Amino acid sequence: MEIKKKIKQTWNNWRASNSDAVKILVTGGTGYIGSHTVVELQQAGFEVYIVDNLSNSNIDVLNGIEKITGKMPVFENIDCTDYVAMDRFLSKHEGIQAIIHFAASKAVGESVKKPLLYYRNNVVSLINQLELMSIHHIKGIVFSSSCTVYGQPDVLPVTEAAPRKTALSPYGNTKQICEDIIMDTIYSNDQLKSIILRYFNPIGAHPSAYIGELPNGVPNNLIPFVTQTAAGIRDELKVFGSDYNTPDGTCIRDYINVVDLAKAHVVAVQRMLENKTKKNVEIFNLGTGRGLSVMEIIKTFEKVNKVAVPHQIVEHREGDIEQVWADPTYANEELGWKAEESVEDTLKSAWKWQKYIMKKADK
Ligand code: UD1
Repeated sequence: MEIKKKIKQTWNNWRASNSDAVKILVTGGTGYIGSHTVVELQQAGFEVYIVDNLSNSNIDVLNGIEKITGKMPVFENIDCTDYVAMDRFLSKHEGIQAIIHFAASKAVGESVKKPLLYYRNNVVSLINQLELMSIHHIKGIVFSSSCTVYGQPDVLPVTEAAPRKTALSPYGNTKQICEDIIMDTIYSNDQLKSIILRYFNPIGAHPSAYIGELPNGVPNNLIPFVTQTAAGIRDELKVFGSDYNTPDGTCIRDYINVVDLAKAHVVAVQRMLENKTKKNVEIFNLGTGRGLSVMEIIKTFEKVNKVAVPHQIVEHREGDIEQVWADPTYANEELGWKAEESVEDTLKSAWKWQKYIMKKADK
C-alpha cells in the first residue's frame, strides 16, 4: 500500500534523526488492548514503559509480551489515580515523549452499580496524565475512547462528525467527559497534542496466542463468553435478544481485530511525534466498516473452529444498542491505517488463545 510505505519511510527518517529509541508510556499496558499495543510499539522500535495496577490483568502478560518481541518492557505496579506515584515514575524515567492512556475500568454493568469507582478511575487518572504531561515535557497523549459515545446513531455507518448521544451508563459518560477534558486542556495549551481513538468492538488475540483477552471472572463481552462456552467452561451463551430491527433480529456491531487496533496506536503516536496532526486534537473511528450480528459471529466461530457454541436466546440486555458500525474512511485516509484481518482469522485467533490458556492452566 502506497500510503503505508510513505508513513514507514517518513518515520524511519524521523527516527534516524532522533537516534535514541523513543520512549512511550503505556498506562494499562498489561490489559487486553494495551498488551497488544505494547507488542506493536516494541516491534516498531519504541522503548515501552508500562504502568498498570493489575486490577483487571495479570503480571504474567509481561512474559507473553517478551515471548513475542524478545523484549521485556519496563513495568511498575502503579494506580494511575495516584498522582504522586505517577510523578515519581516519570521523574525516574526521564525523556518519555508520549503517553498512550488505556488504564480505565470498562464494564458497563459494574459502572451502573459503582459509578464513583468509574468516575475516579477513568476521570481522575486522565487528569493526572494531562497535568503531568506539562511538568514532564511530554508532547502528546493517545486516548482510548469508545463508539459508546455515539449511542444509537441516527445514520449508519457512523462518522466522527455524528453527534454524541446522552450516555446510557456511567462508563459511557466517563468516555464523553474524558474526551471533553482532553479537548479543553489541549485548546488551552498549544504545546500539547492528543489523538482520541474511538474503538468499535475489539476481538481476537495475537496470532502467536501468547497474549489475548483475559477477563477476570464471568466475561461481560461476547467473544470471551463464546470461547469459554465452546471450551465447556460455561454451559451456554445467552444471546441478548432476537427481535431487534436487524436482518436476523440480533444486535449488530463492528468487530475489529485487536492487532489491527493496536497498530493504529503506533501510527497515531508517530503522527503526534512527527507533528503531522492537522489539529492539536484529532478524533478517529477505529473499526472495519462492516457490521456483523451476534448470530453471524456465533455461526462463523463454529464454522472456522469446527466447534459448537451452545446458545439460547434470552431477554435484551439493558443499555444495549441495536446496531452500530463505523465509517473508518477518515482513519483510512488520514492515518493511512486500515483494519486488515478477516473476521474468520480473528475468530480463529480467539479460539487458539482460549486453548492456549487452558493448556497453561493444566500444567
Ligand atoms: C460494550 C460497551 C462498550 C464498551 C465495550 C467494552 C455498551 C452499549 N457498549 O460493548 O461501550 O467499550 O463493551 O467492554 O454497553 N452479547 C450477547 N451475549 C453475551 C455478551 C454479549 O448476546 O453474553 C451481545 C450483546 O448484546 C452485543 C454484542 O454481543 O450485541 C457485543 O457485546 P459486548 O461484547 O458486550 O460489547 P458491546 O456491548 O458492544
